[in-house]
Amino acid sequence: MRLVFLGAPGVGKGTQAEMVSAKYGIPKISTGDLLRAAVAQKTPLGLEAKQFMDRGDLVPDKVVIGLVEEKTNAAECAKGFILDGFPRTVPQADTLTGMLAKKGVSLDRVVYFVIPREEVISRLSGRRSCSNCPAVYHVEFVPPKQEGVCDDCGGTLIQRSDDQKETVESRLNVYEEQTSPLIQYYREKNLLVELNGSGAVEDVQGRLVALLSAS
Ligand code: AP5
Repeated sequence: MRLVFLGAPGVGKGTQAEMVSAKYGIPKISTGDLLRAAVAQKTPLGLEAKQFMDRGDLVPDKVVIGLVEEKTNAAECAKGFILDGFPRTVPQADTLTGMLAKKGVSLDRVVYFVIPREEVISRLSGRRSCSNCPAVYHVEFVPPKQEGVCDDCGGTLIQRSDDQKETVESRLNVYEEQTSPLIQYYREKNLLVELNGSGAVEDVQGRLVALLSAS
C-alpha cells in the first residue's frame, strides 16, 4: 500500500501515520522528521534546511526530493510506505509520480486530513515531541504518563521551535499557498480521499482504517 498523508500542519498526519505504519507493517517516511534529524546532526543538508524551517518556509524541492528518493528506494519500502508531509508542492508531486512510474508502481490513496483552523492551532501549541525518538504528545489531548518524559523511550519532551505562535501562522500561510493546490491535483487523479481529523486520536484512527479497508 502506497499512501500519502496530506493536510495542514498539526492535523494529526504524523500521529496517524505512526499507527498505520504499525498496523499494516509499512514504513512511515516523514520529511519533517528526516529534516529535523539532519538539523540535529548538523549535516550540510541540515544546516541549509534549518534556515527555511525556522521561518516556517518550505525547504527547497531538490533537497526534499533527494531525501525521499533515497528512502523509497530502500528495500523496506518494497511493500509500500506512508509519505507524511511529502509532497508539499506541485513539482514535488510530479517528481513523485515520475519516480514511482519508473518502478512500475503508483500511489494507492492520498488521504486528506481536515480539521478546523482553531483546532490546528490548539494542537500545535500543546504539542510536545520526544527529543530522542519519533513519539509525539499533546499536553492536554495526548499526555505522557509522566510530564515531560517520553512513554516509549524515557527521552525528554520538547516543544518544536517551529510550533511558536508566529511560525505557526507562517506555516499555515505557506500551506495554503503552496500545498493546498495538491488537493485538486490529486482529486483530478481520483486518488484523494477526505478524512475528518477531528475527535479523539482513536476515533480518527477508526475512521482512517475503515477508509483504507474500503478503498
Ligand atoms: P513537518 O514536520 O512535516 O510539519 P507539518 O506538516 O507542519 O506537520 P506537523 O508535524 O506540524 O503536524 P502533523 O499533521 O504531523 O500533526 P501531529 O500528528 O504531530 O514539517 C516541518 C517543516 O519541515 C516544514 O515547515 C518545512 O520547513 C519542512 N518540510 C517538511 N516536509 C517538507 C517538504 N515536503 N517540502 C519542503 N519542506 C518540508 O499532531 C499535532 C499535535 O496534535 C500533537 O501534539 C498530537 O499529539 C496532537 N494530536 C494528534 N491527533 C490528535 C487528535 N485526534 N486529537 C487531539 N490531538 C491530536
